[in-house]
Amino acid sequence: MTQEITVRLGHRSYSIVVGGGVLSTVGERLRALGVGSRAVLVSDGSVLHLHGDAVTQSLRAAGFSLTQVVVPEGERAKSITVAQRGWDELLAAGIDRTSTVVALGGGAVGDLAGFVAATYMRGLNFVQLPTTILAQVDASIGGKTAIDHPRAKNLIGAFHQPRLVLVDPDVVVTLSDREFRSGLAEVVKHGIVADEAYFVDVERHAGALLARDLPTLERVIAGSCRIKASIVERDEQETELRAMLNYGHTVGHALEASTAYGRFAHGEAVSIGIAAAARLAHRLGLASLDTVLRQERLLEALGLPVRLADVDQAAVLAAIGRDKKARDGTVPFVLAPRIGEFRLVFDVPPDALRGVLAELTHAEIAS
Ligand SMILES: NC(=O)c1ccc[n+]([C@@H]2O[C@H](COP(=O)([O-])OP(=O)(O)OC[C@H]3O[C@@H](n4cnc5c(N)ncnc54)[C@H](O)[C@@H]3O)[C@@H](O)[C@H]2O)c1
Ligand SMILES: [Zn+2]
Repeated sequence: MTQEITVRLGHRSYSIVVGGGVLSTVGERLRALGVGSRAVLVSDGSVLHLHGDAVTQSLRAAGFSLTQVVVPEGERAKSITVAQRGWDELLAAGIDRTSTVVALGGGAVGDLAGFVAATYMRGLNFVQLPTTILAQVDASIGGKTAIDHPRAKNLIGAFHQPRLVLVDPDVVVTLSDREFRSGLAEVVKHGIVADEAYFVDVERHAGALLARDLPTLERVIAGSCRIKASIVERDEQETELRAMLNYGHTVGHALEASTAYGRFAHGEAVSIGIAAAARLAHRLGLASLDTVLRQERLLEALGLPVRLADVDQAAVLAAIGRDKKARDGTVPFVLAPRIGEFRLVFDVPPDALRGVLAELTHAEIAS
């Protein structure tokens, strides 16, 4: 059954449609938005090969003339060189402000395509067709677009909301195990900071989720989309509320940066970051040990790491100090006093943080 979630942002409101096979309805749905007849499909070679046909056929059947921009896989898509090539190809294809950029792929394709759509002629229609768990529950919703600077990820970007997001849970069955599990870290994050009932549902059905049972996947993905949508509509430009989505990401990003993005998948780093935030909340007297262990147990049940081994703690601490979210020299931590609640804490003592990193390196998993 197809579910429709509205992101309410006044005249920029849009729908997230979640359902098996929904990718093959993109043409008619785009038509219904009343956009011009030219569309640009941005994707990478692997995703195009696996899932491109349903999309191109649907767009052509609905009368769109189609230009394809094929970008490198993964983070390499998010460069000024690839964006430049995108602008060049749009210009060559006669794309104008009534045209639509359609992103088919993971978060990297979505971020690059969104950035091109935001900047070309000061903004084109943009549609997201996310194909990884991370992109479906997180990156495709909310309008953050970006490319990387050689010295910092996501440094150059713009807010540009999509006109439509189509989430097809069927396509995630082709993800590698590692990519699949990594995306589930964001699902767990949503439950912890925003919705206890959702967290409990994921706890109860962790096995089915890992086994990629389609009805479970669809329900859990739709639930996560709903949580992200409700946060975005209350705090589009990330003043405070949207910051809750950084749960687990302060330590997570630092782990990724201090290992040159080569060792951890994003969700693996976030998973360890969640364990760190959970333990920090306990250390500061904000959360019970049970709250900590519930988070770690669920992450582990989903095949995600919650311990640190062979990591240079000094490098991780230094990377936390360089966090992009630092304000006036202090890095705010998102902490969860209990499942379903969050709090921003600005004055985390450095010793508490050091203690937590040491604990994660040495602790046996309690059960
Ligand atoms: N804009 C936002 O709000 C936001 C939020 C979170 C993350 N991001 C960004 O998202 C990016 C990470 O995205 P990601 O985790 O989706 O990874 P990704 O986009 O880098 O894709 C990873 C790999 O998965 C492959 N792939 C994609 N879909 C597939 C499928 N269905 N089957 C098989 N293979 C498939 C791709 O070809 C690629 O090789 C980062 O650049 C991050 O900065 C953006
Ligand atoms: Zn993340």
